[in-house]
Amino acid sequence: MSDLSPLAARLAATIAASGPMPFPSFMAAALYDRQHGYYTNPNRTGRHGDFYTSVSTGPLFAILLATQFAELWESMGRPSPFHIVERGANNADFAADVLSWSLTHRPDFHAAISYSIDEPLPSAAAAQAARLAPFPGKWQHDSPSNVTGVFFANELLDAVPFRRVARRGNSWVERTVSLTPDGSFCWSDSPLLDRSTKSRLASLGDDFPDGYETEVAPAVASEVRLAAATIAHGALFFIDYGFTASDYYLPERSTGTLRCYRHHKAHENPFDAIGDTDITAHVDFSLAASAARAAGCHVAAFLDQARFLTGAAASALASLEGVRSPEASSWHRQFQSLTHPARLGRSFQVLVLTKSPDPSPFTPPLSGLRFANPRSLAALAG
Ligand SMILES: C[S@@+](CC[C@H](N)C(=O)[O-])C[C@H]1O[C@@H](n2cnc3c(N)ncnc32)[C@H](O)[C@@H]1O
Repeated sequence: MSDLSPLAARLAATIAASGPMPFPSFMAAALYDRQHGYYTNPNRTGRHGDFYTSVSTGPLFAILLATQFAELWESMGRPSPFHIVERGANNADFAADVLSWSLTHRPDFHAAISYSIDEPLPSAAAAQAARLAPFPGKWQHDSPSNVTGVFFANELLDAVPFRRVARRGNSWVERTVSLTPDGSFCWSDSPLLDRSTKSRLASLGDDFPDGYETEVAPAVASEVRLAAATIAHGALFFIDYGFTASDYYLPERSTGTLRCYRHHKAHENPFDAIGDTDITAHVDFSLAASAARAAGCHVAAFLDQARFLTGAAASALASLEGVRSPEASSWHRQFQSLTHPARLGRSFQVLVLTKSPDPSPFTPPLSGLRFANPRSLAALAG
């Protein structure tokens, strides 16, 4: 155990003293420990990090989302202030790109914006403050509630601590973290006690083979509830990789979706380079949608990122037709990365929720929703 990092040594000592550790506690420490957690370093995404996100491909993603926020603002009668609340802001590139695009292209909208970042990690908060220094008075670190505007999160839900479960015969066990006799981390089986996980699994039926492993993330529902509480009137956008429950829990998806990323390589061992490795799982969007409904939201749309961004970009795409400039080429490259089915276009989904003081549900007339398919929305049930 002598060459363990301080974080790994602490986790090992806790397990040695108290027994098997629930995986969500392990993951919370590995990613979010205030001193040594993976996300204390805000430079994890992009070419020099461990994985790409839509934000790290360049400013186009934020620009297209900003056009949607502006359309929503217009459709709501141009309220001021119009809050944009972001969680999972990481290095604040998204916020900076929204603020700088709106300042240049939509100063009327920019004037109404009040941008809030909700960030629990002090080191990430410091990096965000540095990145957003050119926009004094336009943004703040806080967690507002019941405001008018939008809530936005890209790749937040895949990063919340989840439970890993396995089928043993006809019942489920929880996969917990233990130590081998030589002190290495390993998986172990423990009784499944968590009520939310048990009830989620009960709702999925019994058609699972022996040895099947998967994840359940009650924390996704908590995040959605928390997000819903920020907005009284407006919309919430959750963008992430994930599936509806019926696709997620297919009997043939027998090893679940747990993935770890380091230096642009994916693997499935969360005990490797603890604190220097991203740990993630796909999002159960059916769970997110039902938590949203229970929190008073209307589930307005569910579509893949390719459809959403193609709708949002239609007028900009038309204006670039035949244009040859470095900016137009970069724009086309980014658009391809964001929408190509083999890159980020097909695996990433956009869940759009709305909330309004008026009891009748509203779906804003956003260009990004023009290719939304009601059948995908219906598939969320379950
Ligand atoms: C995969 S990164 C995505 C970063 C960024 N949104 C992007 O798309 O490049 C996940 C981010 O979510 C943040 N995060 C996870 N749980 C959070 C929470 N409960 N509150 C705020 N941020 C959280 C992490 O610190 C990290 O910055």
